[in-house]
Amino acid sequence: MTRKILVTSALPYANGAIHLGHLVEYIQTDIWTRFQKMRGHECWYVCADDTHGTPIMLRAEKEGISPEQLIARVHAEHSRDFAGFHVAFDNYHTTHSDETRFYSEDIYGKLKSAGLIEVRSIEQFYDPVKAMFLPDRFIKGECPKCSTRDQYGDACESCGAAYAPTELKNPYSAVSGAKPELRSSDHYFFKLSDPRCQEFLRHATRAVCANQPEAINKLQEWLGEPGENKLADWDISRDAPYFGFEIPGAPGKFFYVWLDAPIGYMGSFANFCKKKGLDFDAYWGKGSTAELYHFIGKDILYFHALFWPAELEHAGYRIPTSVFAHGFLTVDGAKMSKSRGTFITAESYLAQGLNPEWLRYYFAAKLNGTMEDIDLNLDDFVSRVNSDLVGKYINIASRAAGFIAKRFAGKLDARHLSETFRAELPGLIEAGEEIAAHYEARDFARALRRVMALADQINQYVDKHQPWQLAKQEGQDAKLHEVCSLLINAFRILTTYLKPVLPKLAHRAEEFLNVAPLHWADAAHLLPPAHLINPYEHLMQRIDPKQVEALVAANRESLAPTGANAAAVAPAPTPEPSPQRKAQHQQATEDKTQGQAEPKPQHISIDDFAKVDLRVARIADARHVEGADKLIQLTLDLGTETRNVFAGIKSAYDPAQLVGRLTVMVANLAPRKMKFGMSEGMVLAASDADGKAPGIFLLSPDSGAQPGMRVK
Ligand code: 2FM
Ligand code: ZN
Repeated sequence: MTRKILVTSALPYANGAIHLGHLVEYIQTDIWTRFQKMRGHECWYVCADDTHGTPIMLRAEKEGISPEQLIARVHAEHSRDFAGFHVAFDNYHTTHSDETRFYSEDIYGKLKSAGLIEVRSIEQFYDPVKAMFLPDRFIKGECPKCSTRDQYGDACESCGAAYAPTELKNPYSAVSGAKPELRSSDHYFFKLSDPRCQEFLRHATRAVCANQPEAINKLQEWLGEPGENKLADWDISRDAPYFGFEIPGAPGKFFYVWLDAPIGYMGSFANFCKKKGLDFDAYWGKGSTAELYHFIGKDILYFHALFWPAELEHAGYRIPTSVFAHGFLTVDGAKMSKSRGTFITAESYLAQGLNPEWLRYYFAAKLNGTMEDIDLNLDDFVSRVNSDLVGKYINIASRAAGFIAKRFAGKLDARHLSETFRAELPGLIEAGEEIAAHYEARDFARALRRVMALADQINQYVDKHQPWQLAKQEGQDAKLHEVCSLLINAFRILTTYLKPVLPKLAHRAEEFLNVAPLHWADAAHLLPPAHLINPYEHLMQRIDPKQVEALVAANRESLAPTGANAAAVAPAPTPEPSPQRKAQHQQATEDKTQGQAEPKPQHISIDDFAKVDLRVARIADARHVEGADKLIQLTLDLGTETRNVFAGIKSAYDPAQLVGRLTVMVANLAPRKMKFGMSEGMVLAASDADGKAPGIFLLSPDSGAQPGMRVK
């Protein structure tokens, strides 16, 4: 039976780059939808940029462009990155669209008619300088519990306490630095506390998360026991200035970004339906028999399993069949980190020349359909891809292809080999349905383990028959032809099983095999006798561990030498957080680059400062660097060792005047490979905001300091 399936991934914010943490979700969803399409179902995969909210408004302002210009640029960047990783959306739209506006207004209007919208006046912090109400993440101050300074308005990163921004001591606006004032304003609430919502959610959310017991437990916790009314009404409005959709009949009030974000799923699909001539209601109408799935990170379960179904239900739409929540990505067992170089952007991965299918395979090998976090262990990444894909899978084709080409003019054995195939490689065809069931259950790890066990079995067949030996023996042509033909058939079947994960490789394999695009059902039979294949070209390179090292080095951020650069790495608030994000941050936010308020200088603890190993250094040698406009190459004497450092001070200094003088260097900065050689530290210099000449001043210690002395 052909199923109608609509699939979404969470909409990424339109103010940040796609990174490997995001890709866990898009790759996972893409594999699943490709699998469904291969099974012959009508399956559509839609997504969009999540474009509204305060952080995007402020980011555009900071860049001196309109929010529309910002979101257009980011849309192009996101589309490029997704295409680079073969994430094949059927439609990639934007929430800043007519369709999303239409459904936002429609849903809001229906909730209002149902008596589920209430206007209440609330008190909120207001930035008198910026003339705007401040989202929690744009208010900072001292933690009410532990007094740590510079904590966000929702939770303390030092002691983990969660609180309201009004509880902060000495609050200030992270946008302007001004002391915020409490002002009241009318806000629009979706009445989740209404018995109709409570009643509905108690039943519906179980079904929506039926396949994930961890999610059910979470929901149970949020909803409380029957009779307990734990769900608070949800504030769905924000005051101007705000980049979003104005609420009909409420001038100066806008839909909160989290109201229109999931509606963006509908907006993107409606836009797609228009282009394709599909019936939108067949998917979203009440009583629709189509399946609807949302792949999301576990941090936004609250929105997807509570708010979203409640909105849909009470506005007369169907609710999701399931929400599939996944865990966060760690790299080498830790949160992604800019300083360690493990906050890796999609763009940098591709720019470094790494094959996107290596990562698709590795993620797939780790994804098991649960909410557990998944770890990208960089050594394991190299060894698993090399051993599984190149050593086991590709090896099958490369062992057989040459003989078929050279000895048999590219033609497979002219006999019907089904019987022999089943006898020699038992279970290979039969495994198809079992592997399909693992894909269906999103247990890609299990599917791939099964495929690799089959690859092992086929490689044992290779070892047993040793085609390279048969080729040397008189009178073994027929056997060689049979063995190699079976191997090509086996390779084709494995390619089918791997195709959802490795679409590009499968496409090249299809060309080599001279076959039409493979569907799942094709794995149930062999190629016709005497089938002609094309010359083999190597299908996948091994990963060189040096490529991974270079990737990490390219993503590693060192302390910047000038004020301008320093500002670029200083932490800034995250965008519109979900309730769950208050305590439990998204994996990607260790460095908090997504929120785009103008960063204020941050306080660090004495322990943080102690991590920087500052040393007095004597400049033993200084030279011009051929081909470099800004750099001088310094040899720095630290008393017990010397360091090679490239410093961007050429506009202000002549190398000759530097030799012999003392300065201060960061001695424990990770070595950085530069075009001209390895830089093993950084000298400290003061500069104006732009770091431009003549404003660069190298620091010097007072006389008497000795090379190697610690600065503290
Ligand atoms: O958490 C986020 O990154 C949001 N932009 C996800 C939105 S998903 C959906 F609701 F649109
Ligand atoms: Zn605290």
